[in-house]
Amino acid sequence: MQIDLKAGRIGSENDTTVVIGLFKEDKLEEDDSSGMESALRRYLREILAMGDFKGNGEEVAVLYPRGLAPPSRVILVGLGEREVFDPESARRASGVAVKKAMKLGVTELSTAIHGLDGGILSPEDCAQATVEGLLLGAYRYDDFKTDGSDESSLVSLTVLIPRRAQARDIGDGIEAGRITAAGTILARDLSNAPGNALPPRKLAAAARRMASNTGLACRILTRKHIEEERMGALLAVNAGSEEPPRFIVLEYGEPADDRDTIVLIGKGITFDSGGISIKPSGGMEDMKHDMSGAAAVVGAMHSIGLLKPPIHVVGLIPATENLPDGRALKPGDVITTLSRKTIEVVNTDAEGRLVLADALGYAGRYQPAAVVDLATLTGACVVALGHAGSGMMGNDETLLDRVRAAGEVSGERVWPLPLWKEYHDQIKSHVADVKNTGGRWGGALTAGAFLEKFVDRPWVHLDIAGTAYTESNKPYCPRGATGVGVRLLVQLVKDWNP
Ligand code: BES
Ligand code: MN
Ligand code: ZN
Repeated sequence: MQIDLKAGRIGSENDTTVVIGLFKEDKLEEDDSSGMESALRRYLREILAMGDFKGNGEEVAVLYPRGLAPPSRVILVGLGEREVFDPESARRASGVAVKKAMKLGVTELSTAIHGLDGGILSPEDCAQATVEGLLLGAYRYDDFKTDGSDESSLVSLTVLIPRRAQARDIGDGIEAGRITAAGTILARDLSNAPGNALPPRKLAAAARRMASNTGLACRILTRKHIEEERMGALLAVNAGSEEPPRFIVLEYGEPADDRDTIVLIGKGITFDSGGISIKPSGGMEDMKHDMSGAAAVVGAMHSIGLLKPPIHVVGLIPATENLPDGRALKPGDVITTLSRKTIEVVNTDAEGRLVLADALGYAGRYQPAAVVDLATLTGACVVALGHAGSGMMGNDETLLDRVRAAGEVSGERVWPLPLWKEYHDQIKSHVADVKNTGGRWGGALTAGAFLEKFVDRPWVHLDIAGTAYTESNKPYCPRGATGVGVRLLVQLVKDWNP
């Protein structure tokens, strides 16, 4: 989508459709901070005085000034209370507004920057959040729709900049928003793709395509290489699948003495049937999203490649289907990982932690300052936190704090869960070094404890089972994949060297 910047007061030209966000207590009285032309301000003031529009978060109204002021159509959107305004308020407002515009058939949209007159956030942050909300709110997954859509697709977006002095900061914010949205949309597309359209081969091809478009290095390990690396866990999970496994390595920048290395790992189960420990059929279709961690890594690497932060980032994705078959992995089997640690497989549906064990072992060779893995790992994490945030576990308080902060800023919240000794005790095996499930209780935590055994660097694990996809439409995300993790990872990497 084309994004243009336009300096000038809002309502000074006949922009066909303009999105304007208003706070709850806004009255648009004499002061001039709104950046609006006086005719438009007068018109809106009358509407507000009538009490029809209150400015509550995500409230939306469409107005037709009809010659009283220039824009032929105004989409008013509520920003909520001024005191609690944050980037998330701006994203939501933008998302609600663009959805409305698309329902009306609008293809060219202008927008004010939400919260710019509030003085709470920097112009750059306001612009980034406004653009993110718009681009993400305009997202639709219709690759397999042959009968078109009753909504329009947005073709161009114009961001209105009332004060020239802010143009540079705002331009930077718009660019940042465009880049994180692009990464998030890539992640959503990958995660929404049906299992038959995106087996490991195709996921790897998509990662390679992204890398060549973005200027990143990419190496795809095929079965032969995976065998040479002795990734016994990835091969074991793959055993029941006709589709060959892939191990994807993406690299931004190079190792250097003055640069930290961060390794990002994404669970890439392109479809999780459970394997021999097969899942109930109800809702199993959602398990096409079981590569959402991988999608987040591909999306984040795309954004990072465009932003060019001064850091070395490696993305690792173990990719396979998890299917039952005559050759499939069986409960009771013992497998040997890349690190040579052995695992007793008690339940073949706990496959994510198996493939992550090999990837965590592989990560060690980069001597990273931090390893962050993202995985739709456990239903138990969804029981604990619902869909409101991702579960976070790790072995390093500083890194945990950084990830937590990146989650808050990006609007992709995470919440800490413990990795106490008791959870390690639950996964002791009588026949191998560790077993892959810890019984009924504390499922997210025994999964985290399992991963911890394969790590010897500062590490954080994000369980995104509850946040990777949504059953209902959200202000800036339609039902389906959310692309969660991309914005958080990009923020983490951006803030790494303050
Ligand atoms: N991919 C699932 C976890 C999942 C569940 C993701 C719901 C998204 C929504 C994972 O591979 C799995 O099956 N986990 C099991 C682990 C159990 C067998 C110890 C689970 O959570 O039931
Ligand atoms: Mn599973
Ligand atoms: Zn799974």
